[in-house]
Amino acid sequence: MLAATPKLQGKSFLCEKDFSREEFLYFIELAMKLKDEKKRGITHRHLEGKNIALLFEKPSTRTRCAFTVACIDLGAHPEYLGKDDIQLGKKESIEDTAKVLGRMFDGIEFRGFEHKKVEMLAQHSGVPVWNGLTDQWHPTQTLADFLTVKENFGHLEGIQFVYVGDGRNNVANSLLVGGALVGMDVRICSPESLFPAEEIVELAKELAAKSGGNVTITSNVDEGVAGADVIYTDVWVSMGEEDQFAERIALLSPYQVNMDMIRKTGNEQVIFLHCLPAFHDLETSYGKDIYDKHGLPEMEVTNEVFRSEHSKVFDQAENRMHTIKAVMAATLGNLK
Ligand code: CP
Ligand code: NVA
Repeated sequence: MLAATPKLQGKSFLCEKDFSREEFLYFIELAMKLKDEKKRGITHRHLEGKNIALLFEKPSTRTRCAFTVACIDLGAHPEYLGKDDIQLGKKESIEDTAKVLGRMFDGIEFRGFEHKKVEMLAQHSGVPVWNGLTDQWHPTQTLADFLTVKENFGHLEGIQFVYVGDGRNNVANSLLVGGALVGMDVRICSPESLFPAEEIVELAKELAAKSGGNVTITSNVDEGVAGADVIYTDVWVSMGEEDQFAERIALLSPYQVNMDMIRKTGNEQVIFLHCLPAFHDLETSYGKDIYDKHGLPEMEVTNEVFRSEHSKVFDQAENRMHTIKAVMAATLGNLK
């Protein structure tokens, strides 16, 4: 049974801080319900007849597929518009494009670089806009990650959630603020030069003070991972930063998630999460290139951890679809 539905209809989903704790938890509860219905073959066409634009300036496997399948399951039509398909910001302003898309589509997903762009789409389109990742935030990822935590531990409050690695990327920012919002003991463990921006840490601390959560930013791995329920990492070099591999490898090698780090948590039940894609072997052209240039066969996580029983990364990937479906249904559907 779902708690009373918060008023989310017509609202955009741009970053965690735009939602109350109750609203954020509602998306996760709704996703659990939709996941259960899907597993049992119960249809849920809450967006029957709607048309959804999927704008991607950066590549994607999970987010694109999750939005596409979620649209179809909800009875909506998804239309993919890649970076070379439309003029967004090149030959037509974002404002004008937003107004045009809003006349034809009922909802818009956007993945790209500057967060400002997704805000402008939301401001000018007149329809709900969902952030599929910007340089600053990746909020649909946070929902999938927290659903995975809930499935493994039964609750989110008080979970010792440790993000290790590039502490100032989109995923780290989202998990820090999202974790604080829902009352987790959230820690960012990274080199000082990759600590999250001061205003994001301040925001997270304010949210944690209200939710009963806790926020720690540390460069000390032993201190950071002690007692962790969740060890999370992401790539050392995000999309658009590909010229920074050498510098990041030097900075982040001590933060690699390996079995030694898993043991340092002191928690046999600790789970490993990663938003994916991950560099954990030599089965990618990037991975091979890094190996040739820097001699590293694995980067942010070892293959041993990635393939271990601690790893829930493929549950997490599946949960992208259920949580994105919940976001679209709650903000555009007519749920009672
Ligand atoms: N985690 C994630 O956003 O994956 P994609 O880049 O494949 O969408
Ligand atoms: N931080 C990564 C996340 C990919 C899902 C990136 O932006 O490339």
